[in-house]
Amino acid sequence: MTIMHFRKTDFLPSSKLYTRSRRPLIITVDGPAASGKGTLARRMAARLGYAYLDTGALYRAVALATLETGGNPMNWECARQGLDIVKRNLTPELLANPAIRTAEVSQAASKVAAIPEVREALLQYQRDFAHTPPGSVGGVVLDGRDIGTVICPDADIKFFVTASPEERAERRYNELKPQNPALTLDMVLADLQARDKRDRERSVAPTFSAPDAYILDTTGLTPAETLEESIAVIRSRFLEETADMGPGSRKAAK
Ligand code: CDP
Repeated sequence: MTIMHFRKTDFLPSSKLYTRSRRPLIITVDGPAASGKGTLARRMAARLGYAYLDTGALYRAVALATLETGGNPMNWECARQGLDIVKRNLTPELLANPAIRTAEVSQAASKVAAIPEVREALLQYQRDFAHTPPGSVGGVVLDGRDIGTVICPDADIKFFVTASPEERAERRYNELKPQNPALTLDMVLADLQARDKRDRERSVAPTFSAPDAYILDTTGLTPAETLEESIAVIRSRFLEETADMGPGSRKAAK
């Protein structure tokens, strides 16, 4: 694989691209559990100087608040209480709370995420973030399950990140093991498979790749290699856009 290095300014949207869309550039990163989409999206945003939203953290925060009130995360009336708590206190700190990362909260997150009312209640927040991100940034990166399909179908560049189930389980196992010595690789694999199934088969916004998404298989790739591959894609799409739009472009010459 060719590793390419570019300067951050290579990717900031040109004034033409920015004017055409009249909004920050939107990049979506969807994919199944522990596919590496969060790591990729976070690094991509840092590299480009863009804002970043981990949409899974929203569902995780609702799940944690629901569990803390003693509620069943599959029940809308219970999840509504968790949702109300999160809506009243939706801060970056809440989404960075390490307590939302446990295996128990992961399972509960995919349960509250299957409730249509919960998805509906979180939809506008995600769209507003995408279209008017905090700070004067040139773009935004959002990662999740339905960002390229439901939240931002009009995104400029879409990725769908995958990896083999075994490698995904191993990555998540290595992340969780230090806080949970009793954890086994088999437990993590079972957890991911149950969540993937629930996320794929739910009636609203199931996980699938948008037809116009670039499929990025991260099996056997390091986070740095994954980032470089995505940056090469962004660069080529960006150059296609500007080539189409520039005064000397083939389109303009016609
Ligand atoms: O990091 P990981 O891939 O394990 O999960 P996550 O992205 O934090 O998402 C946790 C759960 O939230 C997922 O299993 C989905 O059920 C749900 N989710 C969703 O339904 N839609 C999103 N846009 C993001 C997450």
